[in-house]
Amino acid sequence: MSDEVKKGLLGIVVDETTISQVMPDINSLTYRGYAVQDLCEKCNFEEVAYLVLNGELPNKNQLKKFKNQIEKNRNISINLREIVKHMPKKSHPMDVARTIVSVLGLEDKETNDNSPKANMRKVIRIFAKTPTAIAAFFRARKSKKIIPPKKNLSFAENFFYMCFGKVPNKDIVKAFDVSLILYAEHSFNVSTFTARTITSSLSDIHGAITGAIASLKGPLHGGANEEVMHMMNKIKKPDNALKWINNALKKKEVVMGFGHRVYKKGDSRVPTMEKYFKKVSKINGDKKFIKIYDIVKSVMIERKNIHPNVDYPTGPTYHLMGFDTDFFTPIFVISRITGWSAHIIEQHAANKLIRPLSKYSGPDHRKVMLLNQR
Ligand SMILES: CC(C)(COP(=O)(O)OP(=O)(O)OC[C@H]1O[C@@H](n2cnc3c(N)ncnc32)[C@H](O)[C@@H]1OP(=O)(O)O)[C@@H](O)C(=O)NCCC(=O)NCCS
Repeated sequence: MSDEVKKGLLGIVVDETTISQVMPDINSLTYRGYAVQDLCEKCNFEEVAYLVLNGELPNKNQLKKFKNQIEKNRNISINLREIVKHMPKKSHPMDVARTIVSVLGLEDKETNDNSPKANMRKVIRIFAKTPTAIAAFFRARKSKKIIPPKKNLSFAENFFYMCFGKVPNKDIVKAFDVSLILYAEHSFNVSTFTARTITSSLSDIHGAITGAIASLKGPLHGGANEEVMHMMNKIKKPDNALKWINNALKKKEVVMGFGHRVYKKGDSRVPTMEKYFKKVSKINGDKKFIKIYDIVKSVMIERKNIHPNVDYPTGPTYHLMGFDTDFFTPIFVISRITGWSAHIIEQHAANKLIRPLSKYSGPDHRKVMLLNQR
């Protein structure tokens, strides 16, 4: 047995998956064999969620049934609504999001049934209810009346409706829907691996998703979309951008929304998201963020050969849509629940306890001295 340390599991293949494939050399990402770009142009988020969870794109009847199941499960309990209402208003929405899924686990009658059928029923409930509870916190912390879900709205439209009380124009909804498709799944990233690790001890899906949310919160993972916005706000105006980024590189700072563990020549999701960011920016008459975006991006590529990841365009896009900055990563959550769930089900189907080794580098074996001798 080799005791070579592979910090960060760099380059280690830990299992097989049929859910998605990241091909960094050709800048490609597929879900169940379909290129994400193709899915973004031809499908809506519900179709992609069905695909990620079930392995195939739905036909009309399957989609209708899936949407009905989601719609039927969107309402949250009075208990959860009250919990959300009484969360400290200053809580980070990601901490609220993990608490929400944990509470859903307490309320679910099938929490401890890990059979594939029960897991799929639980997935539908988590997927349908989490956005409702997150949107409830979006309003409750501003002391605004909570808006319950509305029938006959798509997943994306309903989220806007529950947050703002209205649905924006179809181009904005499409941009949001595309972001959800791009965030749905990305193989063995940190949060997914966390979910699979929790699952590998035969723990339950609510626990695995709660842990995955905690992992996604970090700025090196999902939290980067928030950090991108903080960076753009610090830059303030396009005239400052060049100086700001040159200074950041001089100080060897990590520039959020850039770089990736797997993609080294660019993130396959960026061109699609960038296209929709530019559309939203045009609709909003934005001249500031789009310019800052282009300047920082070109300096990062020219000087460091480090390319943007998907969090770079989603940050300013969500800002222009009116979402509070600390809600960007919870939006990632409502989409990634699909990918995490598919991985949890896949892990259960062919489980092996995940238990790596470590190389000990602490003190040599020594004797315990009694308290009065130390
Ligand atoms: C995502 C990330 C953690 C990948 O890390 P990794 O695979 O471990 O790669 P490393 O951190 O070892 O980066 C390799 C080199 O590129 C540099 N680099 C990578 N990302 C960078 C960034 N965003 N800004 C500045 N330099 C960066 C590192 O400093 C390192 O340089 P060095 O070799 O001179 O020390 C890293 O790129 C990062 O911190 N990005 C910012 C956070 C972010 O956007 N996360 C979302 C990911 S989808």
